[in-house]
Amino acid sequence: MCGIVGYIGTKQAAPIILDGLSKLEYRGYDSAGMAIYDGEKINITKSVGRLKILENLTHGGETMSGVCGIGHTRWATHGVPSNVNAHPHFNTDGTITVVHNGIIENYIQLRQMLTDKGYQFVSETDTEVLAHLLDYYYKGNPMEAMTKVLHRVEGSYALGILFADCPDQIFAARKDSPLVVGQNQDGCFIASDVPAILRYTRKVYYVDNQEIVRLRVDHMHFYTVDEEEIHKEPVTIDWDANAAEKAGYEHFMLKEMYEQPKTVTDTLLPRIKDNDIVIEGLNMTDEELKGIKKIHIVACGSAYHAGMTGKYVIEGLARIPVEVDLASEFRYRNPILEEGGMVVVISQSGETADTLAALREAKARGFKVLGIVNVVGSSIAREADNVMYTWAGPEIAVATTKAYSAQLVALYLLAIKLGRVRGAIRDKEYASMLGDLRCLPDQIELLLNNKLKIQKFANRYIGAKDVFFIGRGIDYAISLEGSLKLKEISYIHSEAYAAGELKHGTISLIEEGTLVAAVSTQPDLYAKTISNMVEVKARGAFVLAVTCEENKEIEKAADYVIYIPETNPFFANSLAIIPLQLFGYYVAVGKGCDVDKPRNLAKSVTVE
Ligand code: AGP
Repeated sequence: MCGIVGYIGTKQAAPIILDGLSKLEYRGYDSAGMAIYDGEKINITKSVGRLKILENLTHGGETMSGVCGIGHTRWATHGVPSNVNAHPHFNTDGTITVVHNGIIENYIQLRQMLTDKGYQFVSETDTEVLAHLLDYYYKGNPMEAMTKVLHRVEGSYALGILFADCPDQIFAARKDSPLVVGQNQDGCFIASDVPAILRYTRKVYYVDNQEIVRLRVDHMHFYTVDEEEIHKEPVTIDWDANAAEKAGYEHFMLKEMYEQPKTVTDTLLPRIKDNDIVIEGLNMTDEELKGIKKIHIVACGSAYHAGMTGKYVIEGLARIPVEVDLASEFRYRNPILEEGGMVVVISQSGETADTLAALREAKARGFKVLGIVNVVGSSIAREADNVMYTWAGPEIAVATTKAYSAQLVALYLLAIKLGRVRGAIRDKEYASMLGDLRCLPDQIELLLNNKLKIQKFANRYIGAKDVFFIGRGIDYAISLEGSLKLKEISYIHSEAYAAGELKHGTISLIEEGTLVAAVSTQPDLYAKTISNMVEVKARGAFVLAVTCEENKEIEKAADYVIYIPETNPFFANSLAIIPLQLFGYYVAVGKGCDVDKPRNLAKSVTVE
């Protein structure tokens, strides 16, 4: 989603800001802009389209001289992508400029109030009200104006602000939209995400809700919205900066798919200690785990699909009922949470607005929330009562692969732990499950090495209009994710159906040559899925099957078969998803799509 970078220091600001924004490109955007103070006034350059255009317009930042500035990549919410709607936004005489991530929910009322007072708006954005509102309240004291504005606006924001009267300062603030600040020997930085400034500093401060930061060349001060100064401790980021580089791969998505054996290993092995599963962040005694009556898993997108798999695995292994909710639904449907209920939210970014709101909803009702989160220090990680990290490292491609695989493994561990504590898993099964889990990284590697076969197959489908994914039980959960991977990066319409449900309507869409990918990894359902394959084949479908090596019977019904190695059926998702990820990827590459930054999408969806 939108990105913010700001710098004040002894170096030229524009090249640093452009570099920082380039590190946030993966989040998705449609226009970009910068405001730089040149010693006399604030200059603004902005443009619809890729950051490259802004770089060209400013000759890599050279034409915008100055040591203090803010920049932004915008993902349109209010108003179409255009030069006028791009950030920074400014007051009438250009003395106050603002970059903003989030949504000002009461912007219509504020815009009306300001229009009545004679302010003229040039853009359709909610952000422009901030520039004029700051102007309205500004009487020579920026902090005073900011606190007044922040008390009036409703919604979410991460802000970077320049006041022409204070050329030696940047102001920043945050509510429900991530923001970090950092410092090195040359100056201070603001950013909406750590990778933007990681090249310059590893020491960052996470700005909390309703805090304001005043940054100067050599120091930063933190305040509440009531102007009380607060003390904050820095956090040292220990990621490898190269983790956010492509390392010779054509796309981040391909690189991240190839990182899956490591991701699975990193999420799994440190938690198996002397054949015991130790989930350090869970913070629940065996007695408490035994007392769980129901689990509510809440998430969005792929994390929701991981949760769907989690439902089958937890119900199967621990015999605890599991309800899986889309976070955007959970938060508004007045969910029934009863004593003995446990809420689990899953999120790669830890910043997804709906998931965060669902977490808050559960907490407000007195329920403890376990977060399965990838980004350390993210809002969900900080607000959840307990956190189980998926140690997948930074994920840059908008389409998640390695973080999803890590979420699956985290859920398997949770399911086995619960099953074990509650006596639902016997010693022999337990040992065999741990053995199967340990084999997953090598098996994933094996499947990744089979990429040429999938690439060749995918090339046949770059012209496809519709693709269907079908499966039963866990295979339905895999189908959901396989279908999402294909549609989000290749723009081919695709749907996932529980295989038995197809004949209740959707089968009417099957035409001669329509591709149906049938996932069949559950031995007790092999025969049932074959029947559904035969049904679609009889209506002209071309059937691709993803199944286990032992299921040779499937060749009678499928046109093309991809086999996955043997594992416990509860863990089959981790293997079956690999060819489906590769399929989506190669169809998108074949179509010439922007694989890492698909249109209209953002890496972390920080608005509702
Ligand atoms: C998946 O490829 C998508 N990028 C998207 O569905 C994503 O999983 C969803 O937005 C949830 O994000 P989160 O895991 O960061 O909360």
